[in-house]
Amino acid sequence: GIPIGNGSRLPIPGTNQRLPEVLIIGVRKGGTRALLEMLNLHPDIQKVPMEVHFFDRTDRHALGLEWYRHQMPFTFEGQLTVEKSPSYFITPEAPKRVYKMNSSAKLLLIVRDPVVRLLSDFAQIEATRSEWKKKPRSFEDVALLSNGSVNFQYKAIQVSMYANYFRHWLEYFPLSQIHLVDGDRLIWDPWSEVRKTEKFLKLQPKIRQDQFYFNSTKGFYCLRTAEASKCLADTKGRKHPVVSDETISKLRKHFASNNRQFYVIAGRNFSWPE
Ligand code: A3P
Repeated sequence: GIPIGNGSRLPIPGTNQRLPEVLIIGVRKGGTRALLEMLNLHPDIQKVPMEVHFFDRTDRHALGLEWYRHQMPFTFEGQLTVEKSPSYFITPEAPKRVYKMNSSAKLLLIVRDPVVRLLSDFAQIEATRSEWKKKPRSFEDVALLSNGSVNFQYKAIQVSMYANYFRHWLEYFPLSQIHLVDGDRLIWDPWSEVRKTEKFLKLQPKIRQDQFYFNSTKGFYCLRTAEASKCLADTKGRKHPVVSDETISKLRKHFASNNRQFYVIAGRNFSWPE
């Protein structure tokens, strides 16, 4: 939606800060920012611009729901507030905390091929390390042990084991309250993924196909609103490391059984390569 009261100090009458009814819980590098920005094209949606980390960071959570509510944008009644913090997905305490706030919250989880997600996560971790002036590492340095087997202690490998985390959410929320977005598809066919999400959220289908245009310089779809055109930041769409087929196939084997568990508990077969 269009930000309400943007730039003015006084909120517009009839608007309020409300707790989010919808959360994008993850997964990190799944395409969470793209999904949030795309949904925000809908007039009945207001995004929370920043990641609030209320349900994953214990110090933030301790600030209480009123604090959280004050981080929310002003909305009219009937508009949905959407907050995204990708680390909610992997935080063991998060499902219960969200449930306690609102047991009928709607959850969006965007997943992509676990190996691609891993490469994307590696690219992000290394970019952060380089800001800290740490020396670059190769993908194999971190993803494989010296004997050549998969280093399952590497955090980014663990995060791609979706079934391990999804289970916790299903202890608190029925599948009917969780919508899975295909993050691989969101890249090349964003509008259809967004349309399915509008439907899940019981919103009128108002996001139009002509609001997406492919930008060949960016290499991704960008968004058109009434006011402006915008692409995501340069930190979205990084170069992935070049990795040997042998390493890729080791990783595919490593994730295969967890992927199948995920398809079963999620009730959906993503057919990621094995
Ligand atoms: P890469 O940077 O590895 O390509 P997140 O926002 O959860 O961190 O996810 C980032 C990923 O979103 C990017 O990973 C990119 O592939 C994906 N993405 C999907 N649609 C995009 C879009 N329209 N513009 C930029 N990135 C997009």
